[in-house]
Amino acid sequence: MTFKFVRTLAGTALLATMTGSAFAAEAVSEKHAEAAVEYRQSLFQLVKSNMGPLGGMAKGAIPYNEEVMMTNAVRLEQLADMMVDYLSVDTRKFDVDTGAKDAIWENFPNVEEKVSALKTAAANLQSVVEAGNESEYRSAIGNVGASCKSCHDDYKKD
Ligand code: HEC
Repeated sequence: MTFKFVRTLAGTALLATMTGSAFAAEAVSEKHAEAAVEYRQSLFQLVKSNMGPLGGMAKGAIPYNEEVMMTNAVRLEQLADMMVDYLSVDTRKFDVDTGAKDAIWENFPNVEEKVSALKTAAANLQSVVEAGNESEYRSAIGNVGASCKSCHDDYKKD
């Protein structure tokens, strides 16, 4: 019995390591839940501050600036790396002021895929800028924006 239990635990831990996914953890108190909301919203504020100029460039509101594009695309990839952890704290049990839909913790593997899509789009933007393919800047930024929207459509309240 004990052996089997230990083996299962080890298997789960190994699987988590292999997929690189964090254990989705439930918030244990209202205070914990409120902090978790504050942290994940702060993360998205940083995401927004890096996406803003890229959006402006794609719209033609500001000129393309390769250095800013590269820096912000690298940061978006790094911020996406933190997203799974910050989204994994399940705050459903507490009455917190959040834009996160309950569905996040019912479909976490899908949420991870959407984070992955953002990472891929941010990495692609870096490649496009590195190659100096100006004709592709707009669509590469558009792909990043589409990855935001795809997650918001399913998992963020309006
Ligand atoms: C994997 C899902 C996911 C992806 C990808 C994602 N978001 Fe979000 N975003 C959310 C969720 C969930 C919230 C609500 C968080 C909360 O209120 O607790 C949110 C909230 C936000 C907020 C509001 C933060 C606040 O202070 O309340 C902004 C701004 C935002 N996202 C911008 C972006 C941008 C820009 C991108 C793409 C570069 C992006 N997000 C990608 C899921 C995602």
